[in-house]
Amino acid sequence: MRAVSDALRTIHDVFWIVLGRAPSAVEARDEARGFSAASLRILLMRLLASPEFLRTRQAWLAGREPHGDPAGVERGLASVGPPTAFVAQAYEYLLGRPADAGGLAHYVQALERGDTRRQILRALIISDEFGRHHRTLAPQSGTLLRDTQLCELANPAKWDNEEWLDILRSLGLSDDKLSMHRKPYEFTQLIYGCQRLGALREDSEVLSVGAGHELVLYWLANRAGRVVATDMYEGVWQDVQGREGDPDVIHRPADYAPFAYRADRLVFMKMDGRQLAFQDHTFDIAYSLSSIEHFGGLAGAAATIREMGRVLKPGGILALATEYVLNGPPHEETFQPEEIAALVDQPGLELVQPIDDRVYRRYDYTAIDLYQNPYQTPHMVVRFNDTVFTTVMVFLRKR
Ligand SMILES: C[S@@+](CC[C@H](N)C(=O)[O-])C[C@H]1O[C@@H](n2cnc3c(N)ncnc32)[C@H](O)[C@@H]1O
Repeated sequence: MRAVSDALRTIHDVFWIVLGRAPSAVEARDEARGFSAASLRILLMRLLASPEFLRTRQAWLAGREPHGDPAGVERGLASVGPPTAFVAQAYEYLLGRPADAGGLAHYVQALERGDTRRQILRALIISDEFGRHHRTLAPQSGTLLRDTQLCELANPAKWDNEEWLDILRSLGLSDDKLSMHRKPYEFTQLIYGCQRLGALREDSEVLSVGAGHELVLYWLANRAGRVVATDMYEGVWQDVQGREGDPDVIHRPADYAPFAYRADRLVFMKMDGRQLAFQDHTFDIAYSLSSIEHFGGLAGAAATIREMGRVLKPGGILALATEYVLNGPPHEETFQPEEIAALVDQPGLELVQPIDDRVYRRYDYTAIDLYQNPYQTPHMVVRFNDTVFTTVMVFLRKR
């Protein structure tokens, strides 16, 4: 009988110190069954790794009040015993060690001076020592699993990756899932991939092919050594589709800037992507977004990739976004899966990883009919008549 009440007492104290609440009747009953020193260790591991505790700690670290009823929590903590016992237990449960004489005296005196018990717990929980102890005890805790695939079909799962979303927001784009669109995906995935591959640095030389006046150029100009935007800047693209190939950008780049940028780092040049006027081994990154499918079919796209590979430094990264047919007949300015496989199979270049081409076997979607209303979002899978397609993003490294 006594053993059960001792166990209940310990369980009660652990819940108050770690979670700032009493155990429910069911929690207390289940924990008390066969309670031992080993059960105490397991209970602590479980509570310290729980989302409930992680949220409390995050709030304290962020300077927010974690508890809805702080006075009620303080009353509960008062039931944990006299000041010395409370501080000693807080050390044991939170830091996993007995309180040293100095620490014990410091916190007992603080309580005598009028500090609350919550203040003592907060100090321990946000301490570096607790951080180290917690990382050993529960290294995964608080880290949400993230999709980090680079070579893939435009992937809605990236909208659940906070690191990726931070990049999207830094481009000035909405993170609203209802605004999900292939274009922001391409910009964000380009940056995410180049960063993960270690290619984007303050001194990086970056080439864009079929650049138009794409927003990501200006973002890169603020983070890389030099960004060279190349495009034919002639033909239909001068007038259609938001005037993406508007030649005026060569002379007045600032007129197209979405935000302040380092003008000395960005240059626009009129150039055919199939015949780049640069020497071999010039760039750290060469990329092209939504363009090579317009360069004259498979032959034009392949010539462009070879040229981009040629002007890359050894170890440099070639990033490409183009149209990938999910199903339906061939259609101009899109590529069938086997054509994509042939395009990325170039001497001297290798995919940094296999392409995840199964994304849309995992999602429900309605392909947006581009001939009817191309303005709908989410805008990830589209179609021209029966040809259903999306963006494929690939990263190749120059050997
Ligand atoms: C769909 S736009 C994409 C523009 C930009 N990359 C973007 O994402 O906003 C295609 C671009 O490819 C350019 N283009 C077409 N043929 C080209 C070629 N042979 N070499 C370089 N650029 C070309 C067009 O002028 C146009 O700006």
